[in-house]
Amino acid sequence: MEAPRGIVILDFGGQYAHLIASRVRRFGAFAEIRPPETPAKELKGAAGIILSGGPQSVYEPGSPQADPKIFDLGVPVLGLCYGLHWMTQTLGGEVKAGTTKEYGRTPIRIEGNGSILRDCGESCVVWMSHGDEAARLPEGFVRIATSDACVNAAFADESRKFYAFQFHPEVTHTEHGFDMLKRFVDLCNAEPWSMTGYAERIADEIRKEVGDRKVFMLVSGGVDSTVAFTLLNDVLGAKRVQGLLVDTGLMRKGEVAMIRDAFDRLGITNLHIEDAAEEFFGNLKDVYAPEEKRQIIGNTFLAVQKRVSEDMGLVMDDGWMLGQGTIYPDTIETGATKHADKIKTHHNRVEAVQRMIERGLVIEPLKDLYKDEVRQLGEELGLPHALVWRHPFPGPGLGVRILCAAAPEPTSDVTLTLDVPHQVLPVRSVGVQGDGRTYRHAVSLFTEDPFTPPESYHALSVSIPNANPRVSRVLLCLSHSQPTQAVFTPGYLTRERADLLREADAIVNEELAADEALSKRIWQFPVVLVPFGTSDGGQSVVLRPVESIDAMTANAAGLPPDVLRRITERILALAGIDSVYLDLTSKPPGTIEWE
Ligand code: XMP
Repeated sequence: MEAPRGIVILDFGGQYAHLIASRVRRFGAFAEIRPPETPAKELKGAAGIILSGGPQSVYEPGSPQADPKIFDLGVPVLGLCYGLHWMTQTLGGEVKAGTTKEYGRTPIRIEGNGSILRDCGESCVVWMSHGDEAARLPEGFVRIATSDACVNAAFADESRKFYAFQFHPEVTHTEHGFDMLKRFVDLCNAEPWSMTGYAERIADEIRKEVGDRKVFMLVSGGVDSTVAFTLLNDVLGAKRVQGLLVDTGLMRKGEVAMIRDAFDRLGITNLHIEDAAEEFFGNLKDVYAPEEKRQIIGNTFLAVQKRVSEDMGLVMDDGWMLGQGTIYPDTIETGATKHADKIKTHHNRVEAVQRMIERGLVIEPLKDLYKDEVRQLGEELGLPHALVWRHPFPGPGLGVRILCAAAPEPTSDVTLTLDVPHQVLPVRSVGVQGDGRTYRHAVSLFTEDPFTPPESYHALSVSIPNANPRVSRVLLCLSHSQPTQAVFTPGYLTRERADLLREADAIVNEELAADEALSKRIWQFPVVLVPFGTSDGGQSVVLRPVESIDAMTANAAGLPPDVLRRITERILALAGIDSVYLDLTSKPPGTIEWE
């Protein structure tokens, strides 16, 4: 869809660009992310500009720069952190390394009439993360907030509607942060943005893009592809759309039936269901590396799609195109993902799909939307509430929740001095520490009553990975109160392992479904199968409930003791499961998924 007159976030490489854009949209104004070097003339239609944070120092050679002419566009500009530094330097002020670095919650005092910070009280606590600061303000600016370590914590030039915050109003840790952002958004007079009527608004564009072709769409079972398929049916009509649900053998228990029922109720019957589990498990035999598994799963999807579509007489180049449920964060590389080590490839962007995109053979009708917007659209299209508000589930399904390893990970290289019972586990998992993704050890803690663990264990989940570069996760053992021998069994992706995890996952989902408030509080609850237990051939389950807003960062979620106990007892009753663990790690340092 042609972008409405919205607020543009110039992304200097911080990790919060999507967070800023999705917040702005929730305030009812359109927002999009652009690279920092976007020429000012391309931003003429913008209603306002937000300069994001970034990891570099603005005075260092090679640091990202925007076009200084954006200040002549006559629109409000808000600089955050690095954005503040670039704004200060470009408009004639001075940026220096501060005498004290500030990280985390920091009180600020609001000065003068507070400008954009009015109504935030005389002082409030904000989230800081900086070494540099504005030592001298550019002409025309007046300080509006100060902190102990940063004299110019916020400043403004009211006449030009330029604002700069050293802190991050977009994160939940900043008190009144959303009010501050909202006030800036209100100043911009951006074109209103809401999901109401979105289907109607983009209908013309979908028709134009598809022309007289038809769309073939892989429906994965996830929210995004389900909504995209429903939207395409709605706009193009059933005769011009054909859906294919490939049962990979890596889906949740009862998932295929649930999707089929939802579509049946909407009268959508153009979905072919292909059971390809054997083919997936065959291709994944003896494969252990997570990224290789992802590639194989992505490529097998395509192979099955090609075979089935050919059987159906659908030829991609000849009258048919491919539909995908890709959403905005998957298409826009932010500074935070651009340089990240390539440990995860999005399955909608494997090479073969990339080539089809280049040839104009792919339609992605949700590519401008954030997840919560996709959900609203799904409800508007008549999909059941429970289906569209399901926790996100990764495209490769249980495939990335079954840890595969040919040999135990040596644990002798990790030495911990802790005064609580603990054990280094013989597997590694993916984490995010510093700029890169890493495979590191998990350490389990033990206690007599794991369902109400000592408060200190949560502090340990932070301090252990901080102090030990070889550890990225801290778990709590729910099934044993003391370390036991960890018996490793080599394992790749098999139907047996998938069936076992499916049962454990179904138990967790049943318990969550019984508590709607809990289910809402939790963003995602991966249940992970790991290839070691306390007996020969035995395996373990890791529970990974997290709270998050956008999956970029996440906190390990606490569960009511009775729920945790029931889940543990029921999973332990499954034949083949010896132990159950709860992941206490936040992201960073541990990612949400284990692979
Ligand atoms: P991490 O593990 O990076 O996950 O903290 C962030 C979010 O991404 C999801 N995820 C995936 N989704 N294909 C997907 O479609 C994948 O390969 C994949 N890997 C992770 C994860 O579930 C979480 O919501």
